[in-house]
Amino acid sequence: MKTCLAPMSVPQAAPADPAQDDGSLPTLVGHVAEYERDIDRILISEREIQDMVRKLGERITEDYRGRQLLLVGVLKGAFVLMADLSRSIRLPLMFDFMDVSSYGAATHTSGVVRILKDLDHEIEGRDVLVVEDIIDSGLTLNYLLKNLRTRRPASLEVVALLQKTSVQQVELDIRYEGFTIPPDFVVGYGLDFDERFRNLPYIALLKPEAYAEGPG
Ligand code: PRP
Repeated sequence: MKTCLAPMSVPQAAPADPAQDDGSLPTLVGHVAEYERDIDRILISEREIQDMVRKLGERITEDYRGRQLLLVGVLKGAFVLMADLSRSIRLPLMFDFMDVSSYGAATHTSGVVRILKDLDHEIEGRDVLVVEDIIDSGLTLNYLLKNLRTRRPASLEVVALLQKTSVQQVELDIRYEGFTIPPDFVVGYGLDFDERFRNLPYIALLKPEAYAEGPG
């Protein structure tokens, strides 16, 4: 769960390709009206996300053809990506999930990770693809990959929809990369603020007053 007790700077950076088919910027469409009063603007539209997920799915389909792939979703945020991505991969798949929690303050990751829910399956000799919604400091994933490597999978790769620029603290080798975004707090498509906003179909930036209210 992400909380953000301090107001963030209002992000100015534009997304790579925010334009709709008619050239206009994506607008809020009342998908969840109760959420959208807190949203400053959409950073990545539903259409852009779905296009990216489809492309990632096609690449993964080609790369793992003839192999038995196990997708490992990192709860909770990755559940939306996991659902969409898995349906873009035209191969037999198996699924597992891990739930991890980082020790440290609410607004930053300490790098020490507690496993709240471990895998149900052994992964020795398996082709494993970790599905992450976002890489921020990279410390959670760094810990997770080290942990999974000790279980001796045949292969271990990562697909991450979002990566923040200039805040990553560790070098990570991400095979399947989605969008690079500014180091601002984002919600939607699995990502939360105080457990809200996960079911928005796009990635958005919150208004500063939404943080000022604080979690709860
Ligand atoms: C998010 C995300 C990653 C982690 C990335 O999870 O899903 O697992 O943070 O942060 P890092 O790169 O700085 O380590 P979060 O802790 O928000 O939990 P949630 O998915 O349950 O909301």
